[in-house]
Amino acid sequence: MISLLIFTLTLLTSPGYSTYVWPNHLYDELEHLLVDQEGFNNGADFKRAITPCTYYVNGNQTLGRMTAAQWLRTAFHDFATADVAAGTGGMDASIGWETDRPENVGSAFNDSLSFFAPFVNQHVSMADLIALSVVISVGVCSSPNIHIPLRGGRVDASEGGTFGVPEPETDIQTTLNQFAQAGFNQQDAIGLTACGHTLGNVHHAGFPQVVGPEAVTPNNTGGGVHFDSTVDVFDVLVVNEYLAGNGQRGGPLVTSDNVTVRSDLRLYTSDNNITMEGLSDSQEHFVSECVSLFARMLDTVPNSTTLSDVIIPLELKPVNITLDFVEDETGFHTVFAGYIRVSAHRC
Ligand code: HEM
Ligand SMILES: *[C@@H]1O[C@H](CO)[C@@H](O)[C@H](O)[C@H]1NC(C)=O
Ligand SMILES: *[C@@H]1O[C@H](CO)[C@@H](O)[C@H](O)[C@H]1NC(C)=O
Ligand SMILES: *[C@@H]1O[C@H](CO)[C@@H](O)[C@H](O)[C@H]1NC(C)=O
Ligand SMILES: *[C@@H]1O[C@H](CO)[C@@H](O)[C@H](O)[C@H]1NC(C)=O
Ligand SMILES: *[C@@H]1O[C@H](CO)[C@@H](O)[C@H](O)[C@H]1NC(C)=O
Ligand SMILES: *[C@@H]1O[C@H](CO)[C@@H](O)[C@H](O)[C@H]1NC(C)=O
Ligand SMILES: *[C@@H]1O[C@H](CO)[C@@H](O)[C@H](O)[C@H]1NC(C)=O
Repeated sequence: MISLLIFTLTLLTSPGYSTYVWPNHLYDELEHLLVDQEGFNNGADFKRAITPCTYYVNGNQTLGRMTAAQWLRTAFHDFATADVAAGTGGMDASIGWETDRPENVGSAFNDSLSFFAPFVNQHVSMADLIALSVVISVGVCSSPNIHIPLRGGRVDASEGGTFGVPEPETDIQTTLNQFAQAGFNQQDAIGLTACGHTLGNVHHAGFPQVVGPEAVTPNNTGGGVHFDSTVDVFDVLVVNEYLAGNGQRGGPLVTSDNVTVRSDLRLYTSDNNITMEGLSDSQEHFVSECVSLFARMLDTVPNSTTLSDVIIPLELKPVNITLDFVEDETGFHTVFAGYIRVSAHRC
C-alpha cells in the first residue's frame, strides 16, 4: 500500500511532467513558499505581508511606505553590483552587509531582510528569499497575476561586495557602465528601471534632494511620491505617463526641480525615448519584457553558484508525511499519515 502510493507520486512527478521528483528539500521549501499562498500549510506569510499591495508590514501605515515595492528595490540593489565578467556579485544577499552605504539609503533593505530572516534555513538562502519576494510582489500587485520564473540554489555572501548601485546623482555613462557590468545593455537598463519604477515611491525621508518637504502629510509622514498614478499596480502606466507628460510624468526621478537628480529622465532619454516608446506598445508587451528582464536579474549570480531548474508547482505534493510504528492491544501497526496537496489548475 505504502510503496504503491510512493510509486504513484514518483510517476506523476517524473521529469516527463517537467516537475521535480519529490522529495528534494531545496525545491520543496521554495515551492511551498511560492505556491502555498492561500494559507495551506502556513504558507501565506509573504502574500499577507503585501496584501493589499500598498501594505507596509514593518511599521505604521501612515509612513507612506509599501513592502512590495521595498522587496523589488532590495533585489535590484543586491543585483546591481554584479560583475558578470569576473563572475562575482549579483543575487547573493550581499546587500545585507551593505545597508550603511550611501548608495543604499532607506529603510527598504533592513525592513525586507528582517522580514525574510525567519524563513532562512539550510535549504533556502536569504538570496533565494530575495528572489522569491520579487516573484511574489509582482504577482500580488498584478491582475491577471504575473508569473516570473523562479530558480533556487543561490548562496549567501559572507561579506559585502563592490560598490556601484546607481544613485539619482549618478551620471548617465557611469549608470550605463554599471548596468553593462551586470550584463544589462542600455535597452535592458531602461526597461529594467521602468519595470521597477511602476511600483512604489521616492521618499522625502531618504531622498530630500529629490522630493521636497511638501510631500510630508499626516498620512504620509515619510513623504512618499508615486512613480505613476497606480502605485500599487504592476502596469505600463509609468511609461505612458512619462511619454504623455500626464499623471506623475514618470515620477520624481524625472520631474525633480533639481536637474542633477533626474536619473530616470537621463536614462529614458539616453536613446531618445526609443525603448520607452517600445515599452508603451501595450500592457501585455510591457509585462512580457519585464518578466524576461526580472528573470535575468534574479538569475544573475556569482559564477560559483549553480541555480536549480525553474520551480514548477507540483500538481500533487506530499506534506508532512510520517510513517510511524505503533503498538496497541492487537499488535504492531504502521501508520502512514500526512497530507497530499492537490493543486487547482493555475493559468
Ligand atoms: C538608474 C537606476 C536606478 C536609480 C538611480 C534608482 C533610484 C531609486 C530611488 C532614489 C528610489 C527611492 C527610494 C525611496 O525613497 O525609498 C527608488 C525606488 C524604487 N526603485 Fe529604483 N532606481 C533605479 C533602478 C531601479 C531598478 C532597475 C529597479 C527594479 C528592478 C528599481 C526598483 C525600485 C522600486 C520598486 C522603488 C520603490 C521603493 C519603495 O517604494 O520603497 N529601481 N529607486
Ligand atoms: C506541517 O508541519 C508544520 C511543522 O510542524 C506545521 O507548521 C504545518 O502546519 C503542517 N502542515 C499541515 C498541512 O498540517
Ligand atoms: C501611526 O502614526 C499616527 C501618526 O502619524 C498615529 O496617530 C497612530 O497612532 C500610529 N499608529 C500606530 C498603530 O502606531
Ligand atoms: C569565477 O570568478 C572568479 C573570480 O573572478 C575566477 O577566479 C574564477 O576562475 C571563475 N570561475 C569560473 C568557473 O569561471
Ligand atoms: C541594518 O541592520 C544592520 C544589522 O542590524 C545594522 O548593522 C545596520 O546599521 C542597519 N542599517 C540601517 C541603514 O539601519
Ligand atoms: C488621509 O487620511 C484621511 C483621514 O483618514 C483620509 O480621508 C484621506 O483619504 C487620506 N489621504 C490619503 C492620501 O491617503
Ligand atoms: C522624451 O520624452 C520626454 C517625455 O515625453 C520628453 O520630455 C523629451 O523631450 C523626450 N526626449 C527625446 C530626446 O525624445
Ligand atoms: C541638487 O542635488 C545635488 C545632488 O544631491 C546637490 O548637491 C545640490 O545641492 C542640489 N541642488 C539644489 C539646488 O538643491
